[in-house]
Amino acid sequence: MHQTIAVLDFGSQYTQVIARRIRECSVYSRIYHHSTPAATLKADGVCGVILSGGPASVLDRDAPLPDPAIYRLKVPVLGICYGLQLIAHQLRGKVNPSKKREYGHADLKIGKKNVIFRGLPGTLRVWNSHGDHVTRLPRGFLGIASSENSPHAAIEDPKRRIYGIQFHPEVDHTDQGLHIIDNFLKRVCGCSGDWSMADFIDQSVSSIRETVGNGRVILGLSGGVDSSVAAALIHRAIGRQLTCVFVDNGLLRQDERGYVVDLFRRNFRIDLRVEKVGSLFLRKLRGVTNPETKRKIIGRTFVQVFEQSLKSVGSAEFLAQGTLYPDVIESIAIENNPAALIKSHHNVGGLPKRMKLKLLEPLRELFKDEVRAVGSALGLPKEVVWRQPFPGPGLGVRVVGEVTPHRLRILRKADLILHEEMMESGYYYKIWQSFCVLIPVKTVGVMGDERTYEYVIAIRAVESRDAMTADWVRMPYDLLRIISNRIINEVKGANRVCLDISSKPPSTIEWE
Ligand code: XMP
Repeated sequence: MHQTIAVLDFGSQYTQVIARRIRECSVYSRIYHHSTPAATLKADGVCGVILSGGPASVLDRDAPLPDPAIYRLKVPVLGICYGLQLIAHQLRGKVNPSKKREYGHADLKIGKKNVIFRGLPGTLRVWNSHGDHVTRLPRGFLGIASSENSPHAAIEDPKRRIYGIQFHPEVDHTDQGLHIIDNFLKRVCGCSGDWSMADFIDQSVSSIRETVGNGRVILGLSGGVDSSVAAALIHRAIGRQLTCVFVDNGLLRQDERGYVVDLFRRNFRIDLRVEKVGSLFLRKLRGVTNPETKRKIIGRTFVQVFEQSLKSVGSAEFLAQGTLYPDVIESIAIENNPAALIKSHHNVGGLPKRMKLKLLEPLRELFKDEVRAVGSALGLPKEVVWRQPFPGPGLGVRVVGEVTPHRLRILRKADLILHEEMMESGYYYKIWQSFCVLIPVKTVGVMGDERTYEYVIAIRAVESRDAMTADWVRMPYDLLRIISNRIINEVKGANRVCLDISSKPPSTIEWE
């Protein structure tokens, strides 16, 4: 049994980020509903409690409150933002609405030497997002840090080991936030850091076994990081009860099917069905040039093929997906805000309800880098674990305009050359994405003594943290020269190469 920190969730958008930071400190945590009785936390043997932030105000009549007995559990408590206000409110201090909402960066002045801030400088740039603030401390509490708008930006009751901080230590924008969380876990709660990704795998394996029982699981394997790691993890748990389906939609990169099939059938011995349905997709895409229509056709056809494949597998009760935590927030954000739909991502949001399958999403709480760590620990090769993202609609959105077998052949060859050179130069693993786009415009060239009239290939290489924003990569001219020469000399059908130097926004990463 690992030392466990309870994170009580009050609806903050950062609750999962808090859990992630705790994992970064090699400590196990569980997220609990905010109303969980203190007795349950005691029975679970938690060694510390973190109260998350949240959108409510403690002054609201129906504000979500934790069981007040948590303050008497004799384990340390840390309240973050709304959590700090809860402590002040429930322990009879005073919380007032601020005149000014404190949002964004603030300078935190650390007053008294304190265990939570041990090893940190006297001033920190921290990130805030709150309206209310504490105006009177409860008995037994001391203020330990302040900011311009919050005289009690951090508070402590050293006897009961209860701490509150007004800012968000879990977000990247707070300097040394991880250090503060680590201090709380190790110096206050006494956690030794006894948890690792290997433990995550063991826990997932048991929980997958328990959930699935004797049932069958089906998973759409794309060969990307997320579905590959999900497949390897679920396979470790239930072996041949898992069937993977790989759909070759005819829009894949060079040799992609062979690579994925080889890896998962031969190395992992996974039951993998391959649907070779390229001609079906291409038939449906014939004559279609509108990007959204192309995406819809590809998405719909994928679902049809997948459903057919399911029938041939027999009765599966579970559909496994490599959904990650950022996908979860992104799809929620999109659901609540129709204006946020810029491109329809067909593989986010799951397959239609009529399939009546239960979802199995073992990576749902993890972030991308954590998924990579899990993948490596499961023995997946570097080429898979560190693979650049590839869109569900594949080359269908990289052949601009109508997708034809001829254009796909040209694009595949150009893209392979780019890939080889990015690997050779070491750029592939340093950046977010690099790929070619076929522009369906013909231009005149001259080769030997002959005039050519062929397509243009664009090189797109971007840096990004999360694909929400991106900038083009300043690749060395010599590398660009090699790529351009090779494409023009080796790819029949392309006689010109250009470089995409647009950032996102206002452009997007993919061209369609
Ligand atoms: P955009 O073009 O929207 O792309 O700037 C952002 C990131 O998402 C990838 N992308 C997709 N991924 N299904 C996916 O799984 C899709 O339909 C899809 N469309 C774009 C894109 O490659 C980039 O990394």
